[in-house]
Formats: sequence, C-alpha cells, structure tokens
Amino acid sequence: MASSTARNPVAAASPTGKTKTKVLFVCLGNICRSPTAEAVFRAAVERAGLADAFIIDSCGTGGGSSNWYLPGGFSYHEGDAADPRMTQVASARGVRLTSRSRPLQPEDISEFDVILGMDDANIAAIKRAANHWLQEGLVKDGVVDYERKLALMTEFLREERWKKYTSVPDPYYSGMDGFELVLDLLEDACGGLLADLQAGKVGPGAR
Ligand code: 4NP
Repeated sequence: MASSTARNPVAAASPTGKTKTKVLFVCLGNICRSPTAEAVFRAAVERAGLADAFIIDSCGTGGGSSNWYLPGGFSYHEGDAADPRMTQVASARGVRLTSRSRPLQPEDISEFDVILGMDDANIAAIKRAANHWLQEGLVKDGVVDYERKLALMTEFLREERWKKYTSVPDPYYSGMDGFELVLDLLEDACGGLLADLQAGKVGPGAR
C-alpha cells in the first residue's frame, strides 16, 4: 500500500530536489500577471518552508503575435522585465518581480507538472501551440494527455469576495486598479494552489 507521503507529491519531495513539483504560470505577455503569480507563489512556498520542493517559472504566449509558436516566430516583450506598473503595485505589497519575459516552449509541455493560465485565451493559446508541437514531434517524452496539467488560476480562489472571477483580467490597458486586482486575485489563488498541491488534489499523481 502506498504511504501518505507517496500519494502527496509535495510532502514526498526530497531536499535534494529529486521529486520537485514543477509549476508554470502562463499569461499573454509574461510581463504582468504570470511574473506576479510566479513571485507570489514562490513567496508562499518559501513561507511554508517548501522552497526545495518546487521549481517555479512563468512565460507568455506571444504577447499578441500570432506566429509566436512557429519556427522563426516572434514574441512581443521577449527579454523584457515586468511592466513598471505591475512592479510598483507588487513592490508595495512586498513582492519583488525579477523574471524576464520568455515565450512558452515545447519542453515546457513535458517538463512542468502543473501549467496555470490566467484566462481562457491563455489556455486556448497553450493548447494551440502544444497541439502543433505534438504534431510536429517537438514535445519529448511522449506526452499525450498534457491537457490534464492545465488549469485556470481562478480555480484556486478561496475567498468568497473573489470567487466571481473566472479569469485574472489582463491589466495592460487598465488603470492602476487593474494591477491591484491582479495582486488581490493572485495572492488568494496562490494560497489555494499551494493548499491543493499539498493535499495532492493537483500536480503529479493527482486525478
Ligand atoms: P500580461 O499582460 O499578459 O499579464 O503580461 C499583457 C502584457 C502585454 C500586452 C498585453 C497584456 N500587450 O498587448 O503587449
């Protein structure tokens, strides 16, 4: 019979990292929502004393470019630091954004255990790219049911006041209140995501 730690991917993680749970946050440009999710989730994991149990990253789906996942494709914002408005709002809450924008790549589909989109368009873009890469034989390790790894960040909201949200709204063309809302939603959802990972409800071995 499996022990409880064997069923719980986070509890089973060793300090040497052999069984680290790999979590990838995805948005459109990878300069507002997903870098914030990455930093907020990392801080939650560190507070829980679980830093050794996770690999955490973020990326984008082209930032508005249609060919981003194709050979020679272009991604807006690649290499850019987080949007200064996002950095300012995050910093005021003690969250430091340090990542640089990069597009989703074929290896991410096989490497990561959980892939979180901020809205339905992110999920659709991930599927469009992944299905193309699978067809082209670019996704290694025979990943066929990668869709089981995908989830919307808002599935992990816990506080009643936020539960009406079915996406983390794109703040790029909003006022500063849109950036504050991104932090509000992600702070709640990252806590919920970590709790569900610890309970084995999501991640490797779940479902
Ligand atoms: P993000 O926000 O997807 O949360 O990083 C955006 C960043 C850039 C653009 C749109 C959304 N853009 O159109 O360039």
